[in-house]
Amino acid sequence: MHDPAAFRSIHKTRYNAEPAIFVGPGRVNLIGEHTDYAEGFVMPAAINFACLAGISPRNDGKIVIYSENYGEERTFDSAALPPHGSKHWSDYPMGVVSILAGEGHKFPGFSLSLWGDVPLGSGLSSSAAIEVATALAVLSVVGASYPGPVLARLCQRAENEFVGANCGIMDQFISLNGKENHSLLLDCRSLEFKLAPIPDHVALVIANTMVKHSVAGGDYKTRRAESEAACAVIASHRPGVPFLRDATLEDLDKWGHEMAPKSLMRARHVISENLRTVACCDALLRGEMAEVGRLMAEAHTSYSKDFEGSCVEADAMVALAQDLPGLIGARLTGGGFGGCTVNLVEQAQAPAFAEALGARYAAQFNIVPEIHICHASGGAHRLE
Ligand code: GLA
Repeated sequence: MHDPAAFRSIHKTRYNAEPAIFVGPGRVNLIGEHTDYAEGFVMPAAINFACLAGISPRNDGKIVIYSENYGEERTFDSAALPPHGSKHWSDYPMGVVSILAGEGHKFPGFSLSLWGDVPLGSGLSSSAAIEVATALAVLSVVGASYPGPVLARLCQRAENEFVGANCGIMDQFISLNGKENHSLLLDCRSLEFKLAPIPDHVALVIANTMVKHSVAGGDYKTRRAESEAACAVIASHRPGVPFLRDATLEDLDKWGHEMAPKSLMRARHVISENLRTVACCDALLRGEMAEVGRLMAEAHTSYSKDFEGSCVEADAMVALAQDLPGLIGARLTGGGFGGCTVNLVEQAQAPAFAEALGARYAAQFNIVPEIHICHASGGAHRLE
């Protein structure tokens, strides 16, 4: 994690003011992929990679946003906020400002600095980390706050409506509501959740394929549309199925032949993934780690074969982990088409596991992957 003291001094030097600093963590999803927008279940954990947001007031009515990652600053007029994004990094913070302004908050001028160490485009929710850290920062300026689930929806809207990426609720929700050493089984319909402790002897090893992933990209949209088309076929017979959350594998047996073949495959992934996610949480709560690993393996196969959301490199990263000592379970995590795999590994064997996996991957692809031994951390908060 970046050094908050260094960050404070960057902001102070630039804006000649002491910032209040907020942290928005990235996340890793243990299981439950492409189920959130189907109002199903996900099981993510917040991680110890995060975006820091430093904020201080200004008296010239300007909103000035600086990204230390991009080394770039953008200036806006607080009285004339842009109505939509401009395909620029500043869309993420400005989307949040714009959605919150739409909720009736009148923002005075402020300087906002951002610095994140969530690897960009790696499927670890660098976007949600920025949105959530920004939301807490700008709300502090107007002295407002929201319950976590409500703020998660507002940040999701920033991404859907301003940035133009049609993501679900998972990333913003876990970034706000994560808990140290826990993953969280979230019902994306009710936003109720159950905490599942990650045992002390288990490490989260995150392996970056170094293949860039983007939710704003076309594949995410296509997969979502295909799975929603399958749902529409089921709903034409069973109107009680507005989302795939409500569908069953029997529905696919009955009406799958009316679906485009790809739609049927996407729906089979989403419906079975919901079942696996709930089962995985139960197994984790019972401490049955072998069952957790089995479900993660099944989830990866379903994500790769039925959802076609993986890529050669991610499939290899999962395959190369299989016979390494200490592995409990491995799968591609996040929006797909690149990014990272998540590996649950016996803590004592995690360093050797990470090294061996990195070496195997580098030998196969001639790319040195970044492999991190992470832990589940708490949700977004203000740094004192
Ligand atoms: C991205 C989106 C999430 C979710 C995942 C896939 O991370 O932002 O809302 O849909 O992909 O599970």
